[in-house]
Amino acid sequence: MYINLKTLYGVKKGMSQSPEDFFGWFLVLVILALVVGAVVYIIKKKLDHRNDNKPTPVPGHPGAIDHKYAHALEIAMQFFDRGNSALTDGSEAKLDLSKGLYDAGDHVKFGFPMAFTATVLSWAILEYRDQMEAVNQLEPAQQALKWITDFLLNAHPSQNVLYIQVGDPVTNHKCWDRPENMTEKRPLTQVNSSVPGTEVAAETAAAMASASLVFKTADSTYSSTLLMHAKQLFTFADNNRGSYSEKIPEVATYYNSTGYGDELLWAASWLYHVTADQSYLEYVTGENGKEFAQWGSPTWFSWDNKLVGTQVRFSYRNLKHGPSLF
Ligand SMILES: *[C@@H]1O[C@H](CO)[C@@H](O)[C@H](O)[C@H]1NC(C)=O
Ligand SMILES: *[C@@H]1O[C@H](CO)[C@@H](O)[C@H](O)[C@H]1NC(C)=O
Ligand SMILES: *[C@@H]1O[C@H](CO)[C@@H](O)[C@H](O)[C@H]1NC(C)=O
Repeated sequence: MYINLKTLYGVKKGMSQSPEDFFGWFLVLVILALVVGAVVYIIKKKLDHRNDNKPTPVPGHPGAIDHKYAHALEIAMQFFDRGNSALTDGSEAKLDLSKGLYDAGDHVKFGFPMAFTATVLSWAILEYRDQMEAVNQLEPAQQALKWITDFLLNAHPSQNVLYIQVGDPVTNHKCWDRPENMTEKRPLTQVNSSVPGTEVAAETAAAMASASLVFKTADSTYSSTLLMHAKQLFTFADNNRGSYSEKIPEVATYYNSTGYGDELLWAASWLYHVTADQSYLEYVTGENGKEFAQWGSPTWFSWDNKLVGTQVRFSYRNLKHGPSLF
């Protein structure tokens, strides 16, 4: 330190360059080189370490991904897969209801939560498409979604008829078997204009509308079919108002609905996003919004309550950096 200072001082002052000064300079250079070398080494090590978990660059909102979650996503997608079972579901109504999802621990296909699952999966794909693509999970996600929407399309054979359940929950909850081996009867339950089910019809409309966005570019025919069914189901739900769990009390034990207003707004908001048709916007922001939306007092987002989802989706319109769904 003494030499350094002395040397620097000497140079600054333009003093004579004695051998002692040259030795001092040499030492300064060596120390500088060591310091620079150490700094470069540390930075390089840090960068290398970062590169180990380096997120793949993803262009779209909301940006980079973390690979450890990619694996979790992959496993979650596989969760939807199973062997063949219930291949004759729907046959008593001459429908193919062999696809779709069983409920959590049993083999009943409950239309209300199933449609909600499809809507949320669509939303996830729309929001994280680039990220899913970067980790090869876009295709599995779309296939899982289509497995549900194929079912929902077949469950809606005419404008005012929607099959909302396959299987008998009572007998199904009494047994413990694999779906591939089940022998229980698989009765069908429908809603229609005399026994309506506004929330289940509207949720199915939301599922189809959101899925029509997912498949818009990849399969425009399928996308249009989904949108057509979504519009019909929304009209059916809106024109024939009644809670499905009041009209068909058996379902209340399993997926009881506490109201259909949220599903009507939710479905209309998705239809607005897909079609940009102002009448859907007015539907949500006008009288129906006043009656059902509880603007400004969000609670939680669940298969029974979609008000928060509706508010979030509408807030996108005012967010500069939100997903460009509009
Ligand atoms: C259940 O189904 C599988 C095929 O999915 C079959 O291999 C097995 O023998 C069946 N078990 C019973 C008890 O029927
Ligand atoms: C309408 O749905 C109810 C409830 O599922 C059912 O009992 C009735 O048979 C259906 N109506 C027709 C015409 O199928
Ligand atoms: C279903 O929800 C309605 C409306 O909130 C409620 O009155 C009814 O008690 C609930 N039924 C069951 C079985 O939970």
